Amino acid sequence: MTSVVLPLSLGQPPLACRSQALLGALAAALCLALSGAAVAADTSAPEQLKRWTAEAKAPGNADKGQAFFNAKHGGEWSCASCHGTPPTTEGKHANTGKTIAPLAPAFNAKAFTEEAKVDKWFRRNCKDVLNRECTAAEKADVMAYLINLK
Ligand code: HEC
Repeated sequence: MTSVVLPLSLGQPPLACRSQALLGALAAALCLALSGAAVAADTSAPEQLKRWTAEAKAPGNADKGQAFFNAKHGGEWSCASCHGTPPTTEGKHANTGKTIAPLAPAFNAKAFTEEAKVDKWFRRNCKDVLNRECTAAEKADVMAYLINLK
C-alpha cells in the first residue's frame, strides 16, 4: 500500500504568504485577507465612537442611544428584536432564530474590532429597522450606549 503525502501541511499559509517579506505590503495584505483564519483587529468600540462623534460634530449620548436601540421606528423590528435588551448576552435573530454574539463590547471581545464589519452591519440593520441608513449622530448615540454597558 502506498501512502499519499500531501504537499501542503494543513494549517500552514501558502508558501507565497510565508515569504511575504519579499512581496511587499500589498501582497502581505492580500495573503492576510485570503487566509481569512486570523483577521487582525483593525478598530475598537472606542475608535468607532470617536469616528462618529467626529462625523456628527457632537458627542454620543447613551440615553438617546438606549431609546433609539429599543424603539421600533415605524417598522416591525427594533435593534433589540435581534440583539436583545440590554444586548449584554447572546441575541437571537428575529427572522432566522440564529444566535448572535453579544453586541456590547464589554461582553464580546470581538465586537467592533473590524471596521468593514461594523459598517456593513450598521448599513444593513439600519435599513431593516428604519428603512434608511442611520445618521452619524445616531451611530454615536448607540455606541455610547453600548460602551456604557458593563
Ligand atoms: C433582523 C435582525 C437584526 C436587527 C433588527 C438588528 N441587527 Fe444588528 N446584527 C444582526 C446580525 C445577524 C449581526 C451580525 C452578528 C455577527 O456576525 O457577529 C449584527 C451585527 C451588528 C453590528 C456589528 C457589530 C460588530 O461587531 O461589528 C452592529 C453595529 C449592529 N448589528 C447594530 C445594530 C443596530 C444599531 C440595530 C438597530 C438599528 C440592529 N443592529 C438591528 C442582526 C440584527
